[in-house]
Amino acid sequence: VKVNQVHRTGFHFQPPKHWINDPNGPMYYNGIYHLFYQYNPKGAVWGNIVWAHSVSKDLINWEALDRAIYPSKWFDINGCWSGSATILPGNKPVILYTGIDPKQRQIQNYAVPKNLSDPYLREWVKPDDNPLVDPDKSVNASAFRDPTTAWWVDGHWRTLIGSRRKHRGIAYLYRSKDFKRWVKAKHPLHSAAKTGMWECPDFFPVSLSGQNGLDTSVVEENIKHVFKVSLDRTRYEYYTVGTYDLKKDRYIPDNTSVDGWAGLRFDYGNFYASKTFFDPSKNRRILWGWANESDSVKDDKEKGWAGIQAIPRKIWLDANGKQVLQWPVEELETLRGPKVQLGNQKLQKGEHIEVKGITAAQADVDVTFSFPSLDKAERFDPKWANIDALDVCAQKGSKVQGGLGPFGLLTLASEKLEEFTPVFFRIFKAQTKHVVLLCSDARSSSLGSGLYKPPFAGWVDVHLTKKKLSLRSLIDNSVVESFGAEGKTVILSRVYPTLAVFGKAHLFVFNNGSETIKVENLNAWSMKKPLMNAPIRI
Ligand code: FRU
Repeated sequence: VKVNQVHRTGFHFQPPKHWINDPNGPMYYNGIYHLFYQYNPKGAVWGNIVWAHSVSKDLINWEALDRAIYPSKWFDINGCWSGSATILPGNKPVILYTGIDPKQRQIQNYAVPKNLSDPYLREWVKPDDNPLVDPDKSVNASAFRDPTTAWWVDGHWRTLIGSRRKHRGIAYLYRSKDFKRWVKAKHPLHSAAKTGMWECPDFFPVSLSGQNGLDTSVVEENIKHVFKVSLDRTRYEYYTVGTYDLKKDRYIPDNTSVDGWAGLRFDYGNFYASKTFFDPSKNRRILWGWANESDSVKDDKEKGWAGIQAIPRKIWLDANGKQVLQWPVEELETLRGPKVQLGNQKLQKGEHIEVKGITAAQADVDVTFSFPSLDKAERFDPKWANIDALDVCAQKGSKVQGGLGPFGLLTLASEKLEEFTPVFFRIFKAQTKHVVLLCSDARSSSLGSGLYKPPFAGWVDVHLTKKKLSLRSLIDNSVVESFGAEGKTVILSRVYPTLAVFGKAHLFVFNNGSETIKVENLNAWSMKKPLMNAPIRI
């Protein structure tokens, strides 16, 4: 077997080999970040699922420990599926996770560290009073999983379990006084028709001002809540911003965001089964999400690995209160090596200019574009209001000449542009406002076959009063992870170039609109490699 490792990532989280999926139980405990994740110890396809475990002091350099939770008791003998960590009073971590029992039912278990004085919490025990929660008669036992971090209010712990009844997605609410005896609430915290199974729900408070995160148990005036689910039908995640009504113990989305397919997404690309946690050491909330491969199963088996975690992102509420903003954790900047800069660079219609002098296959690129006026923006077709942004990107792409845009980056590009992944803006003029599209178009990313190459896209809810748009892209061999307009719209895409690899990858800025664009300022750094899951040295 020819093992082609040109697509292995450098600074994105991944183990040395085999399959990974959801991030599980992320937490900060006594100076150490823990990340667990769904892992197949036997191969590069899904199966034999255990909780693998890694630790870090900075969210960037990771050391691999032995698997933490694996099938060993009747209540998880057929799999240890996703779950979350909660730190109980007295600084005691506990994990809630879904076990698959001998009848293939999904049941909720807990695990606790064997030895709290082990700084890495290597070993976890699953007490014999498990499971904590069985599916009752009204619950679909094959769709009942992924418990959230618990929160505590008014004398009770609460956790959510993702489920469905027919086509209605449901987040069941369970309450407990002692974390042992859990009782299902009469009403789910939230549910929505025709959305299908709600995998990996997440529910957390956000502050109405500033970027600081809040502990999951905070309920007070002047906050909002965010509720997120992963929908297995579309393989996208959707969230709403809303109010947690404590009296009714229910969540009510604001009328500015809607449940389901038309809703907001943390990421408009390849990003699934995400989970947040509160980091008390820096007063921030951090989001982890899984990015699956977009190549074939055959390719995965040949590579010997499949799946990565996206760069951990700080997440907070936008000042407009309508959406969240995301930004790579600041620690990522410690990997920035040699830098190149470009400023005050005009880009005329059809022009592309190379950004030379960095390792373009593994780079952190931060650029601000400006434009003299909005007059040349193309007309926004009212039909687009009801379709996915991806379909607009599919029609327009980076190659169809526009008015104001397309402009942006050509990442992972071969010298003669046989291959490139463009990440770009297109600006449209609707009846009363301008509409901005951010697109990361994988269709031209590779000459290889058997690849999924979608034109991922999302709308960017941004004011263009300053006539500027910024874009940050993290490029890592087979990843282009882009943050538009300071984290308003994020798109991760997995691409597999055949020519634009390692030293043969190039980076360009481009403009394919009739309005001249200016690169106000561009900083691009070659990225150094962190310690990525070498087994820990004791
Ligand atoms: C989401 C998911 C979860 C489940 C886990 C199994 O990707 O399907 O709902 O707990 O993966 O690996």
